[in-house]
Amino acid sequence: MTDTATSAPPSIERVGVIGCGQMGAGIAEVCARAGMDVVVHEVDAASAERGRTRLLGSFDKAVARNKMTEEERETTVSNLTFTTDLADMADRRMVIEAIIEDEAMKTDVFTRLDGIVTADDAILASNTSSIPIMKLGIATQRPENVVGIHFFNPVPVLKLVELVTSLMTSKETVARSERFAEDALSKVVIRSKDRAGFVVNALLIPYILSAIRMMESGFATAEDIDNGMVEGCNHPMGPLALADLIGLDTTAAVAESMYSEFKEPLYASPAMLSRMVEAGLLGRKTGRGFYDYSH
Ligand code: 3HC
Repeated sequence: MTDTATSAPPSIERVGVIGCGQMGAGIAEVCARAGMDVVVHEVDAASAERGRTRLLGSFDKAVARNKMTEEERETTVSNLTFTTDLADMADRRMVIEAIIEDEAMKTDVFTRLDGIVTADDAILASNTSSIPIMKLGIATQRPENVVGIHFFNPVPVLKLVELVTSLMTSKETVARSERFAEDALSKVVIRSKDRAGFVVNALLIPYILSAIRMMESGFATAEDIDNGMVEGCNHPMGPLALADLIGLDTTAAVAESMYSEFKEPLYASPAMLSRMVEAGLLGRKTGRGFYDYSH
């Protein structure tokens, strides 16, 4: 289904989000709150149900904090549809992939979307934190329409979006993506070249890894490291609590992408982080990371 051709491309009203983990749910939420028709894809019915529960929980929080009225909640919920069939992305004008940081899985999603999404000017975007956009672009026959739109967690609260262009992304795709993020979603956009980590993670990940090494070496406790940055530098949370929020698997995956691109020791995952990921201590999402969230 394509819109009638006009000189200016139509605004993006039909959005698809692939993956409804913490980032996908947040992206679906801000798009639905902005009045867009959002189709959310998950791999199976149980994952889709978990995604829906995650979204409803966030709406409850927003209503409880007077960030959303009951009426807005109802409208937002009605803007969201869940599916386990990727073919339901066919009529979307913007599809944002937000699955786990796994290059093979992401390239597979882009190849499949390329065969499904019908509009020639539809944008295929990735929320990847670190995987080169070029690799996702060349998995399709339309690399000029492929771009990185990287949101920050929690997406409904944090304003930033990194817009990441590959060597093949067209100016038109960049301009439309920027309008989508800034005008439709009211985000603040910064641009980055296609380098692992982009701008924010290139600064943030070495900081978090340094905090983990500091704790691992017995230099200071997790609480003292975090209190140091909260009380001494006015950060909203310390680096270890932030790693728990991001997810230790994601933190390790971003570090790995950056290490493999730059071979800089400061991006190498500390052994403690690797062991915690292997043990399934992934932070808030599993109830335990550097801190215990089970009660
Ligand atoms: N919808 C709308 N607003 C919401 C909301 C929701 N679902 N949930 C919370 N809010 C609002 C609250 O109303 C509150 O607003 P106010 O300040 O105007 O009252 C504000 O968000 C803060 O919410 P809370 O009171 O629940 O929580 P805290 O004050 O404890 O803050 C936090 C929690 C927002 C997570 C804060 O600690 C924070 O900003 N931490 C840093 C997060 C960060 O750095 N994220 C980036 C991670 S890196 C990343 O994502 C990139 C990836 O690639 C790795």
